Amino acid sequence: MKLGVNIDHVAVLREAREVNDPDILQALYVACQSGADQITIHLREDRRHIQDIDVKNIVMLSKVPVNLECAIDKDIIEIVCQNKPHRATLVPEKRHEITTEGGLELYNHSEDIKTAIAKLNASEIPVSLFVDPSIETMEKSKELGAQMVELHTGHFANLFAMLNSSLPYSNHSIKDLELSRQTLEQELANEIEKIKTAAKHAVGLGLEVAAGHGLNYHNVYKMVKISEIIELNIGQSIVARSVFTGLQSAVKEMKKLTTRR
Ligand code: PXP
Repeated sequence: MKLGVNIDHVAVLREAREVNDPDILQALYVACQSGADQITIHLREDRRHIQDIDVKNIVMLSKVPVNLECAIDKDIIEIVCQNKPHRATLVPEKRHEITTEGGLELYNHSEDIKTAIAKLNASEIPVSLFVDPSIETMEKSKELGAQMVELHTGHFANLFAMLNSSLPYSNHSIKDLELSRQTLEQELANEIEKIKTAAKHAVGLGLEVAAGHGLNYHNVYKMVKISEIIELNIGQSIVARSVFTGLQSAVKEMKKLTTRR
């Protein structure tokens, strides 16, 4: 299965000091050398991490395909078309969110999404939609003209972390998920089933299927087992681990965990 390494968080660290350190191009080089099959970056409207010049340089210099995430915004879509990454992934974006919190809302913005897909496809850029896992979102993604879907695994990851890590004992505990272990286990099983069912349905519709958000060294095996998912995009956990082990080792380790035998 393909490992897309999201290097946004290297740029987060750089922007914290407004210097060129750590160098995002060095991160690109190390990730590619260490087994990344794809580089994923998100050009946010507020430019909080990845900058326009990063997009240009990364697309030009990457040895592996670049998956550029962006909002359905006319100016941003224009920049994507100019840079011609190997794929665009349309994601929802809210100014005040810490990270992408849920999948794209496909019904209220369907005309804008259709227009964005048509414009990107006209520039020979295939489009993936970042959506919550359900039969309905798969059907709607197909109807809107997407070539691929990326299933949002955030809820799965939150449930997994509330069951299997110290998160509930920390001040980042997820209040809505402070439930009994039995309930969490049942909800986790339901969410995995939802992801499986959505992935199967998408493949039946002729869509390629990726997944991502909140995946880490502990929970990723659950997604690797779902054969319809051909790609995982992972960022925060890899960059977090690289603080202790270096980016090379962090990517290599994740590559090992995501390789199907
Ligand atoms: N896929 C998409 C579409 C995303 O928006 C993100 C977060 O930027 C990721 C994958 C990676 O998520 P994480 O950083 O939690 O691994």
